[in-house]
Amino acid sequence: IVILPSAAEIGRLGADVVERLVRTSPAPVLGLATGSSPLPVYRELIARHRAGLSFEHVQAFLLDEYVGLPAGHEQSYARTIRRELTEHLDMPDAAVHSPDGAAEDTPAASAAYEEAIAAAGGVDVQILGIGANGHLAFNEPGSSLASRTRIVTLTDRTRQDNARFFDSIDDVPRWALTQGLGTISDAKHLLLVATGEAKAAAVAAMAEGPVSASCPASVAQLHRHVTVLLDEAAASRL
Ligand code: GLP
Repeated sequence: IVILPSAAEIGRLGADVVERLVRTSPAPVLGLATGSSPLPVYRELIARHRAGLSFEHVQAFLLDEYVGLPAGHEQSYARTIRRELTEHLDMPDAAVHSPDGAAEDTPAASAAYEEAIAAAGGVDVQILGIGANGHLAFNEPGSSLASRTRIVTLTDRTRQDNARFFDSIDDVPRWALTQGLGTISDAKHLLLVATGEAKAAAVAAMAEGPVSASCPASVAQLHRHVTVLLDEAAASRL
């Protein structure tokens, strides 16, 4: 756990982890998260790309995707991650993967996503945010710590938290496809970023509470290699 004085410092340290992977692996696999938490890391990666760091051979897998948004919707996570990160890098569009939220057969789409991650050799570095209720990706409290990619129902809290990106709360999808906590735990290195007072209780529960499905992020305690980057506010209850 590293407590840092600013978002810029968080961005630099997070980008160092990613840069080391990109420079040392012939076939790096990066796990990406949407949300505001990883944005300082993404901004720094874009800056390093402009300074010469190439992402040409990187494969990227997104954690989750809404179910039921029209194809190409601006708030779909597939669009969001392109807008915020990958279209500013030299990654081919086909190297950016996400669960198929438009699939009619969601169990088949979930299984196909797991297979695609495995076929790429598994995720090397998984970037993560954390929900105010301790969720990881869209694994809400109560999700099995061994869960795999599947369709989930979003809680009212998560829909309210995400309503700011939509015209009204009624437009926020009710379901999502998400990597499970077991899927996320298969990544070789977890890189979790949290900032702000609103995340302080979730961060404390993750790091110091019991390992329990009531705080999905507590699954990180079972992982061998986790880096948590926090600002002072997010660390204030540790
Ligand atoms: C969403 C995403 C999560 C993300 C969380 C926190 O629910 N599915 O992956 O970690 O929001 O978002 P933010 O970083 O904007 O606080």
